[in-house]
Amino acid sequence: MSSAPRSVQIKGTGSYTPQKALTNNDLSKIVDTSDEWIFTRTGIKERRIADENETSSSMGAEAGRRAIENAGLNIDVIDVIVVGTMTPDMPFPSTACLVQEKLGIKNAVCFDVEAACSGFLYIMEIASGLLQTGRYRNALVIGSEKLSSILDWEDRTTCVLFGDGAGAAVLGLGEEGDTAGIIDFKLGADGSKADMLHQPGGGCAIPPSTESLAGRQHFLKMRGKEVFKQAVRVMGQAAVEILEQNGIESDQLACVVPHQANMRIIESLSSRLHIPIERFFLNLDKYGNTSAASIPIALDEAARAGRIKRGDIILLVAFGAGLTWGSSLIRW
Ligand code: ACO
Repeated sequence: MSSAPRSVQIKGTGSYTPQKALTNNDLSKIVDTSDEWIFTRTGIKERRIADENETSSSMGAEAGRRAIENAGLNIDVIDVIVVGTMTPDMPFPSTACLVQEKLGIKNAVCFDVEAACSGFLYIMEIASGLLQTGRYRNALVIGSEKLSSILDWEDRTTCVLFGDGAGAAVLGLGEEGDTAGIIDFKLGADGSKADMLHQPGGGCAIPPSTESLAGRQHFLKMRGKEVFKQAVRVMGQAAVEILEQNGIESDQLACVVPHQANMRIIESLSSRLHIPIERFFLNLDKYGNTSAASIPIALDEAARAGRIKRGDIILLVAFGAGLTWGSSLIRW
């Protein structure tokens, strides 16, 4: 007799952000900007900047260690490590393999996924699928970014928006009959808008050269206004569709944990879903946009602050370069 499918649950969360805070006022000494301009357009007050010895793997390993500790598990039972990042330590090997080594985990499948700011939702869905095969016990999923390493510190239209950090979760199967766990995912992408937000240099299309460095091709480039419009559209759609598909009304949601890119994008999501902004978990004032790390850092802070309790239904929703987007409903 086949047993009922077991849900995939979040067993623990963890996060790590670098010590050094860079305020809007600090930035106004680097580029022609002001606290007033940045805060009114984005909601960001400061962001964390990694020091030269910190990398996506070192920050990710620390967030991962805290998530494993929060789950009350031993490292021996982690057999999958997936890192979502667009700032890997190096093109290869994967940041996940470097995290494995730093945590001293011996037997795990390790790989990275590149889905920019939607990365954490992409890796949660992939890791959930692996767990449901029954071949793995627990997956450590990590979003980690050292965006300061690809920012153009002469471009005020981008360098004020982003920060560094890492967030992680341990996923595992729940007991038979336990209804807590991931309810659903809805992921999407539109590669026709790839050049709206990208880092053109450094890959095989434009390998590092004197010309590519002089042309500042190794820095993040963004058409902010267009990204803004797309973000409002796709985040709203990803949220509405997953609620409809699962017959869940927005007033049943205890908390929404959105990608922390811009307060105005989040406010527009709040009015589209008819969910008061107080039910959104927000920390972009402290960290800015940390891309794939944004949702797991916020999730960890929300859980530790008691904003999410057992039995609550929560919504995660993200968008990013690609373009990519995604949403997930979870019963905590
Ligand atoms: N300080 C002062 N002035 C600035 C700054 C700055 N940091 N940046 C731009 N300006 C100026 C512009 O030059 C422009 O001046 P002009 O009118 O003389 O040309 C003026 O401010 C207005 O610029 P806009 O681009 O129209 O400003 P807007 O209101 O659109 O806000 C912003 C810009 C904040 C970037 C907004 O478009 C936005 O948030 N877009 C979405 C970005 C985003 O979320 N990206 C993350 C994607 S997720 C991922 O995958 C990484």
